[in-house]
Amino acid sequence: MAASPDISRRRFLAASGAAAGAAGIVGAGFGLGRTGSAAASGLRGSEPFYGLHQAGIATAQQDRLFFAAFDLITPRRADVARLLAEWTAAAARMTDGLELTDGVDSAAAPPADTGEAVGLDPAHLTVTFGFGPGLFEKAGADRYGLVARRPPALADLPAFPGDKLDPAFSGGDLCVQACSNDPQVAYHAIRNLARIARGVAVLRWTQQGFGRTSSTTSGQATPRNLMGFKDGTNNLRTDLAGFDQHVWVPQDDGPAWMVGGSYLVARRIRMHIEVWDRSSLLDQEQTIGRTKAEGAPLGAARERDPIDLEARNADGPVIPVDAHVRLANQEANNIHILRRGYSFTDGIKPATGQLDAGLFFLAYQRDPRRQFVPLQQRLATDKLNEYIQHVGSALFAIPPGSHRPGDPIGGALFA
Ligand code: HEM
Repeated sequence: MAASPDISRRRFLAASGAAAGAAGIVGAGFGLGRTGSAAASGLRGSEPFYGLHQAGIATAQQDRLFFAAFDLITPRRADVARLLAEWTAAAARMTDGLELTDGVDSAAAPPADTGEAVGLDPAHLTVTFGFGPGLFEKAGADRYGLVARRPPALADLPAFPGDKLDPAFSGGDLCVQACSNDPQVAYHAIRNLARIARGVAVLRWTQQGFGRTSSTTSGQATPRNLMGFKDGTNNLRTDLAGFDQHVWVPQDDGPAWMVGGSYLVARRIRMHIEVWDRSSLLDQEQTIGRTKAEGAPLGAARERDPIDLEARNADGPVIPVDAHVRLANQEANNIHILRRGYSFTDGIKPATGQLDAGLFFLAYQRDPRRQFVPLQQRLATDKLNEYIQHVGSALFAIPPGSHRPGDPIGGALFA
């Protein structure tokens, strides 16, 4: 099934009228006529690729995730720079709902695009790239002459109490976060980027997410996580104060090549679902510190009511001392992060028959040393720890966006 320009995805969509709301985007090409956030309220449509920041952070959170961590296998710096340029160009096209090339595939070679997204709306696909510590330094070696450019904020995460990290879900020299409202579109993006990387980088681990566990704009309703609780109520939001201050790397922080970027902490957090499901509603609500049905802080009536950490009743604090929302409270700690995680379920643990499911925690921030690390240390006494275990961990520097075609992600790092 060789693709020809006549059945290219762009024309297929336009001809079929498959996406009336997205028709203007589908035919638009680079740099033109994107509706971006205007279409963000619907499941269909496309997000802008080019900008000061990479898409997929401030973007209204999509419903599906496919995340991949890669290990670099090339000894040559030029290979890495070329891969990033190719990835950037491919991601820009896929974000627009285009196949990887407009050309006609030869019948004698594998098609340039794997094809499973032909005819599908991009459904707000965003592709976000990150650099792990291993890009700068691996096993003490300065593989690509970049060690001096490693940002101090990309310091290896310390060990946290209770961690049971599996290398099979941890680390990575590069990462790609693909988010879309269509899981097949997100899958297609990662698969094609992995294909482009052949000989330069190999997949280390991947994670699918099937339901968002945060809201990132005020317009989005708060979703529920696999514990059945509303998750993302008190999150940084694109349209509210504090977002810029806590998420993006400012000039003063440096290094220059990271200005406008962010840092991503990914944690694969298993939930002991069977244990949780045997605990009482009272115990569940005291663990989180909010009501299950409404999501209101304990002692309050509505989801958006303020959290009163001082309130007491005859038994002591209304919000228990070990409740998750007390320990994670952003105002009291003055630690704010952008949570952008997803629920996952990956079959069962053969040894126990228990579900291997939980929260794939993704948090964006300006400096993990001042945000995720102290916050996670505070959570050492969290009652939630009876029901969860961190089994995977990774940290990435997320460089700023590509400004225009021909400007690769990470270009300033390799310049
Ligand atoms: C499986 C693990 C986790 C579950 C099930 C979970 C669940 C929740 C829930 C239900 C809320 C209340 C609603 C909301 O404001 O979003 C919440 C709040 C929050 N969580 Fe988690 N969480 C988990 C892990 C973490 C981790 C690892 C961190 C950071 C290190 C974190 C940081 C926060 C923060 C900052 C808040 C908002 C606190 C506030 O200011 O009110 N959570 N979480």
